[in-house]
Amino acid sequence: MAKSVNGRVRFECRACGFHSGKWMGFCPQCREKGALQEFRGAKQSPASSKAVSLAAAGSHPVERRPVGIGEIDRVLGGGLVSGAAILVGGEPGVGKSTLLLQAAALLAGPGRVTLVASAEESIGQIAMRARRLGVDLDKVLVTATNDVDEVIRLAEELQPAALVVDSIQTFATGEVEGSPGMVAQVRECGARLVALAKRSSIPVFIVGHVTKEGSIAGPKLLEHMVDVVLYLEGDPDWGLRLLRNLKNRFGAVHQVGFFEMQEAGLAELLDPGSVLNGGWRGDVPGTVLFPSMEGRRPLLLEVQALVAPTSLPQPRRSVKGLEAARVHQIIAVLERHAGVSFAGQDVFVSVVGGFRVREPGADLAVALALASSRIGAAATGVAAWGEVGLTGEVRAVGQGDHRREEVKRMGVEAIVAPDDGAVDRIDDALLAAGLSPPTPLATRRVVRADF
Ligand code: TYD
Ligand code: MG
Repeated sequence: MAKSVNGRVRFECRACGFHSGKWMGFCPQCREKGALQEFRGAKQSPASSKAVSLAAAGSHPVERRPVGIGEIDRVLGGGLVSGAAILVGGEPGVGKSTLLLQAAALLAGPGRVTLVASAEESIGQIAMRARRLGVDLDKVLVTATNDVDEVIRLAEELQPAALVVDSIQTFATGEVEGSPGMVAQVRECGARLVALAKRSSIPVFIVGHVTKEGSIAGPKLLEHMVDVVLYLEGDPDWGLRLLRNLKNRFGAVHQVGFFEMQEAGLAELLDPGSVLNGGWRGDVPGTVLFPSMEGRRPLLLEVQALVAPTSLPQPRRSVKGLEAARVHQIIAVLERHAGVSFAGQDVFVSVVGGFRVREPGADLAVALALASSRIGAAATGVAAWGEVGLTGEVRAVGQGDHRREEVKRMGVEAIVAPDDGAVDRIDDALLAAGLSPPTPLATRRVVRADF
């Protein structure tokens, strides 16, 4: 029976990774039946450790090698660091394999290959994709095994300029029980690849799929082990892709890179705003621009709303690209503090281009788009930002100057924002955008005073 260092047997749930000191018929965390099994972690070496003073410890300046794709180098903090373990997450189909194949081809140089281990696609499929991308085929070596130890052996033999493992959920090691994709396998394969990067100085890209439902054995498990965490996002129906870094042990975080998925792979996009808003029309109801700050880069997004009468007893509230709870709150604020009623109306709100907005600065743009559609009039203040509070106040958000600059750069002059105290209440903001609520404000104020 395998015992841990202190002599006690440990058990691990093969579905969610829960650890327990005793065996149970089901996992107390995820309730999976019969999932607890004896835990066999990597063997600990009994070698004695010693502590060294930081002053005595040597420090090696990090060696960076530009990948050659500016937007990737930007999120990596200037280039690829030797021995870096990089997790690349994203939904299936977003373009992870495509981007890494392009990077792999560029990283290979004279006398140096890159190694792509893919248990997801056949070698033929990868070759077809590589031809389509027009990348140099000689220098990229491919293996289709799903045995992580075999991949590590190959990498040690070939010493590639970089190793791409696509995807971690499809690899397994014979030394751990369970099939690929299970928590124990994902964690152990991840740990082995990170160890390979450290001892061989080969940079390793580990691809991890995340599903919309948030799979249990997803890349989240590996985030703490790796040096850099990148996420590629964007709506597969649209060409635009955003590469974010959420963690970087060698540089600044919250850097973003923009790409467009084209016929021949992902192309860098230096000015995403102009692509996003090329066909934008501000003279129709239900659309307002929002200059979001992605990391330190402004990105002008379009928020759309459609408010339409419904005969459903429970009107629909559909939200895409924004936090639903936040939109519900804005609807309530518009009802209560600006006299715009959504009773008996279906409401659809979305951010164009498949992007997700996480900052509260989008509140005012959402509110104006909703009011504009409900009232049936185009907003004349066409770009807006500000946080909307429960009492109807509109608060300033950071980087107003950068947002203003970006809006102007895109040729939009009309702005509604709380900066410099221009508007501080939601009803004032509506008036500033040329949207008069159907109920005269004066009447509504009297009604409010009755409470
Ligand atoms: P892929 O890189 O396979 O996604 P992931 O590895 O994240 O699952 O990208 C798949 C999509 O990209 C696929 O739907 C087709 C599209 N695509 C292009 O539009 N152009 C191209 O040149 C390539 C290679 C893919
Ligand atoms: Mg893929």
